[in-house]
Amino acid sequence: MSNAIIIYDTRSGNTKLLAEKIMKRLEDLEVSVEIYRDKEFKSIDSIKDFEIIGLGTPTHAGQMARTFKKFLKKVNQLNLQGKKLIVFGTGADPNSPPKICNDIKEMVSPTGLQVIAEIGCVTKPTDDINKEIENSIQKDMF
Ligand SMILES: Cc1cc2nc3c(=O)[nH]c(=O)nc-3n(C[C@H](O)[C@H](O)[C@H](O)COP(=O)(O)O)c2cc1C
Repeated sequence: MSNAIIIYDTRSGNTKLLAEKIMKRLEDLEVSVEIYRDKEFKSIDSIKDFEIIGLGTPTHAGQMARTFKKFLKKVNQLNLQGKKLIVFGTGADPNSPPKICNDIKEMVSPTGLQVIAEIGCVTKPTDDINKEIENSIQKDMF
């Protein structure tokens, strides 16, 4: 059984909902999942124990949330070569989620993580995004 860790930031809950939908998809694919808000998550080193890593943030002033950026700076100290990355992000402007996903990818590129899926959502995720999540995350990716 594969395992995954999902770490996200949120202020009003949209990115948390998206993180939970991604968790549900992974669980449906028989992946065991742990999920944390960035500020609750302290054991950075333990990320190395997971095969799939999910990272997501809302957009604040055109950028990822400040606390999430700080968190990613710590993640960047790890060698995560061979592990898979799912990036996700939310924003009010439709251009923001893809941009924020790119920012996450660029920021963690020194870790060697391999990106397998990018999931963006404008504000609060509804059930409409489930299909996109299903298409983006498939069993043969891990
Ligand atoms: C302080 C603040 C700044 C924001 N700045 C932007 C922005 O620059 N671009 C954008 O598309 N959305 C912006 N938003 C909207 C949020 O990114 C969007 O509502 C997001 O889904 C919130 O996620 P959350 O519920 O997980 O906190 C901003 C929201 C807040 C609270």
